[in-house]
Amino acid sequence: MKLETLTLVLGLLGLTAFSSLHCESKGHIPEGKLLVLTIATKETDGFKRFMGSARHFNYTVKVLGRGEKWNGGNYMSAPGGGQKVRLLKSALADIKEEDKIILFIDSYDVVFSSGPKELLKKFQQVKHKVVFSAETHIWPDRHLEDKHPHVREGKRFLGAGGFIGYASNIKNMVSEWSGKDDDSDQLFFTKIYINPEKRKSINITLDSKCRLFQNLYGALDEVVLKFEDGRVRARNVLYDTLPVIVHGNGPTKLQINYLGNYIPNVWTFETGCKLCNEDLRPLSGLKENQYPVVVIGIFIQQPTPFVSVFFERLLNLQYPKNRLQLFIYNQESHHEQHIHSFLEKHEADYQAVKLIGPNEGVDPITSRSLGFDMCRDDIDCEYFFSVDVDVVLKNADTLKILIELNKSFVAPMMTKPGRLWTNFWGALSADGYYARSEDYVDIVQGRRVGVWNVPYVSQVYLVRADVLRSELKADDLFQSSTLDPDMAFCSRVREQGVFMYVTNMHTFGRVLNTENYQMDHLHNDLWQIFENPVDWEERYIHQNYSRIMKDNIVETPCPDVYWFPIFTEVACTHLVEEMENFGQWSGGGNVDKRIQGGYENVPTVDIHMNQINFEKEWHKFLLDYIAPVTEKMFPGYYTRAQFDLAFVVRYRPDEQPFLRPHHDASTFTINIALNQVGIDYQGGGCRFLRYNCYIRAPRKGWALMHPGRLTHYHEGLPTTEGTRYIAVSFVDP
Ligand SMILES: *[C@@H]1O[C@H](CO)[C@@H](O)[C@H](O)[C@H]1NC(C)=O
Ligand SMILES: *[C@@H]1O[C@H](CO)[C@@H](O)[C@H](O)[C@H]1NC(C)=O
Ligand SMILES: *[C@@H]1O[C@H](CO)[C@@H](O)[C@H](O)[C@H]1NC(C)=O
Ligand SMILES: *[C@@H]1O[C@H](CO)[C@@H](O)[C@H](O)[C@H]1NC(C)=O
Repeated sequence: MKLETLTLVLGLLGLTAFSSLHCESKGHIPEGKLLVLTIATKETDGFKRFMGSARHFNYTVKVLGRGEKWNGGNYMSAPGGGQKVRLLKSALADIKEEDKIILFIDSYDVVFSSGPKELLKKFQQVKHKVVFSAETHIWPDRHLEDKHPHVREGKRFLGAGGFIGYASNIKNMVSEWSGKDDDSDQLFFTKIYINPEKRKSINITLDSKCRLFQNLYGALDEVVLKFEDGRVRARNVLYDTLPVIVHGNGPTKLQINYLGNYIPNVWTFETGCKLCNEDLRPLSGLKENQYPVVVIGIFIQQPTPFVSVFFERLLNLQYPKNRLQLFIYNQESHHEQHIHSFLEKHEADYQAVKLIGPNEGVDPITSRSLGFDMCRDDIDCEYFFSVDVDVVLKNADTLKILIELNKSFVAPMMTKPGRLWTNFWGALSADGYYARSEDYVDIVQGRRVGVWNVPYVSQVYLVRADVLRSELKADDLFQSSTLDPDMAFCSRVREQGVFMYVTNMHTFGRVLNTENYQMDHLHNDLWQIFENPVDWEERYIHQNYSRIMKDNIVETPCPDVYWFPIFTEVACTHLVEEMENFGQWSGGGNVDKRIQGGYENVPTVDIHMNQINFEKEWHKFLLDYIAPVTEKMFPGYYTRAQFDLAFVVRYRPDEQPFLRPHHDASTFTINIALNQVGIDYQGGGCRFLRYNCYIRAPRKGWALMHPGRLTHYHEGLPTTEGTRYIAVSFVDP
């Protein structure tokens, strides 16, 4: 053990001795000699990211061109960038120290992966006065290929997006610039480089193996993230180098955005998310009337379950309502009732409400722009919060949380229960559709928590009004001849250099399945137990149902009669209203064509579940919610909750007030009270004759479960006033 340690120490000493010797002979360039020059006509999100990484490593940065109009062309369409050379040339004129080291670098799509010390050391090791970043591809003039010197290993072509060198040599290099702002800087520098005399006199070389600069264009397969003790950098696996600067040049903005979610310490395994706590806009401590004004855009573009619940949640959003305006776009006449019953009660609470209904001839794409306009046109509006109606915002603080993150554009991560589906994409395929990023599953499953710059979000997001009035001011953001409106929009946001962040720092909610939503019933949500089981449960299953399995809350009012909460008030009301809406109550006679044999011994006034096409859903309900209770209360009995008869019974003094003693055609029976004794009716209840045991005060939403035959001979007691409803199921006949 001792020996090993000693060897290790000696090894380290040897290494240090060697490198300090090596450097002494050359002399370190002090960090103070380095000046970073960059161009940024606007403070884009990319610029802020660049400056964040520069600050982290203590680079001294001078920004050129601030507030200037950008004339340098668009890298996607034409060569450009002459403006950068002009600005550089004039900035160098002010620099008197000839031995200043200048790093000239783009900013919108660049991050620093390491500090000045390493950069300068690597620069010195190249033993040239000017070092350019290198490219796999030649651009913009491929006819110049043969003129480029060969390299033994690595990239052969010059990239103008980054270079480092002595101020005097760079001055010399740009002295002959007289081009226009939209001329190609790349071509200008390339022509100098391929001229052997100039290359020699200025003493230029390329960083062919990406020791200093990593251009991502043409090099995506070469670069991986390298996580190390609280920091992250890029690693070039082709040359086994650790570049100091990473540049998403050309069409690699998505990749630099991905890498920039980590490098240099934006997110690390050790420290988590740094971005989450920087530049925040705290709302706590504000008076209600100081909260930023937000327009909430609500979009109803297809028949959607649980729309009334959506509005209940909207109402519960933790935010002063007099600082909120609502823009509601509804394309479905089916949902007008839900909107109207919400607005009737609450419209006056909000600062303003604008509703566009299905008969106004506004198409969905236009509606999105109109929503933005409502915010753009009101100078007080600071944010637009876009929420599609299929979004289940479980977290009532969502709006506040998003505002506090202080981003131009940020979405809360929404999931679908039990699936990897979310409202964001971590990457795009070549044709612009979904692709899975390496970190997608970790983000969805919460193993990586933070704020992530991603290429696509949908359904719900917060966007700052000043961005809607500048970068995103166009009125055709959702239009495209090839892309879906949501993809077209995201593509425009990306093109405008606005970062789309998604955050999974909190649980925000989920998105509904809207397929197979049928509209032929009064309360269509009752039929959603298959499509949206979580929402169905929240809406319809009693709050205390989950306690049955944990606590002993099942009551035993009579021997082997179990009593437990099962339905919410809403479930009871919906089921009764659904039956009354259907309206075809049986006459209560013995002849009954609905059942096998056509004869009912103990008839009731009722409607069977299958008459309203509810038997599959009812079976699922019995299986998921009743069977577990049965198996708990009657150990050793297993049920698949089969039934022939399940129905809602109506008792009325002037119709059928009671039911004579009888056995049920079931192994066990479920009897759920659907309304409230003392309020909706008087009397009612039931008696088990063998025990002479009465249950006189049925509770709305509670189920009675008892054996059907032999021991539990029972009768329905007379309803003396009003109408009593119960839901009865004969299970395992
Ligand atoms: C940057 O400078 C600050 C203060 O001068 C220092 O505390 C910090 O360690 C420096 N960071 C790096 C990465 O050198
Ligand atoms: C560049 O300058 C270095 C000294 O810094 C010198 O050793 C080297 O030969 C020069 N290269 C060319 C091509 O002039
Ligand atoms: C929000 O972010 C911006 C930069 O994007 C910053 O200038 C501002 O100070 C931050 N905080 C607040 C409260 O706006
Ligand atoms: C659930 O049980 C608690 C505690 O017994 C009670 O206070 C609450 O009212 C119950 N919830 C409902 C919906 O009945």
